[in-house]
Amino acid sequence: MKSYLALFCLSLGGSQIAQGFVAPQNSGFRVSTTIKNSFDVFSEELANEESSSARRSLIHSAAAASFSLALGGAIVPAVNADVGTLPEFGDSEAIIQGLTVNVSDKSQLDGMVEFLVKGFDFQILRQRIRDTVEEIWLGYGPEQLSIPGDFEIPVSSFAKYGGHMSLKLVLDSRVMKPLYKGGDDAPGNNIDFLQVGVPGYRISQMVASGGKILDAYGLVNVVSPSGFPMRGIVGITPDPIMLVAVNCKDVKESKAFYEKLGFVEQEYPYSRPSKGTTIFEPAPPAKSVYMAPSAGCMGVLLQPTKKRITPNPAVESLNIVYNPTNGNDGDGLLLTDPSGLGIRFMSASTFTEEEKKTR
Ligand SMILES: *[C@@H]1O[C@H](CO)[C@@H](O)[C@H](O)[C@H]1NC(C)=O
Repeated sequence: MKSYLALFCLSLGGSQIAQGFVAPQNSGFRVSTTIKNSFDVFSEELANEESSSARRSLIHSAAAASFSLALGGAIVPAVNADVGTLPEFGDSEAIIQGLTVNVSDKSQLDGMVEFLVKGFDFQILRQRIRDTVEEIWLGYGPEQLSIPGDFEIPVSSFAKYGGHMSLKLVLDSRVMKPLYKGGDDAPGNNIDFLQVGVPGYRISQMVASGGKILDAYGLVNVVSPSGFPMRGIVGITPDPIMLVAVNCKDVKESKAFYEKLGFVEQEYPYSRPSKGTTIFEPAPPAKSVYMAPSAGCMGVLLQPTKKRITPNPAVESLNIVYNPTNGNDGDGLLLTDPSGLGIRFMSASTFTEEEKKTR
């Protein structure tokens, strides 16, 4: 793998492309022949592209690398290989399982947990501490990809059913670089917000735990204590974690990127019966596109912006759980979308194992 990547970078005359493709250490990630071939084709393409246009940005190159990978078959999952056994994901080959948010220090981690639990009614689902790294997963119900053993129809509420998305907080105490200073605006704008649709939220609790309220007319826009922007809407949805709004320089380009990963344009989800006609839940911006890998999971809202896009350092990745075509090919893969948002892949089997262990 290493030697291959080295060769790959060499042929580009630079190393920046490796940013779009990070194989984790000791993950046992194997490169299949199809991917190798597509790398070859791709490095030629990109070499031509680079010489013809020096203006192309690093982000663009990284996104282009992702395309090639997806086409190589690494992450376009097998047909008839469903994610888990939940009927909701019956036809799904991949789902967005959630997001990973990096926090700067222990007080931000505590502030984030309090903010999510008291402000938005998140629950702590699981946690783990390994060496210097502390991880906490929060969400609105079990994440497992099968129906939990204690779930009873019709006695149990949906909150006890499986397949919930989650927000993962990561504190690495070795990392000294502060990602965000409390009270500031979000430290980047590639993610506009994570939208949750909840029966109710508490603005006073958000403020008490270090959140910065941006506006609260009908809905609430708030920068969380670690610099991760959120939007709360009072509404009812199967899973309150609804979508991530991503600012895009070119929505078409971003749409094409997500299509290559198997995302499909879907009907925009509303949590209120007024369907976008009120200030409580406005319609998505003109020319935006809503996409998800399956109808049963959260999605991305690709929104056009004229502003210069800077990645938010507090956001580590959007996490996709998928069924690999070939062994565990692609497990642990990290790509970067055209807005600089990390997209991390985890196979359903790795996810299931880790989820059980950390509960
Ligand atoms: C998030 O934290 C992890 C663990 O320290 C680190 O490897 C990763 O690079 C961080 N991500 C960002 C976007 O800074």
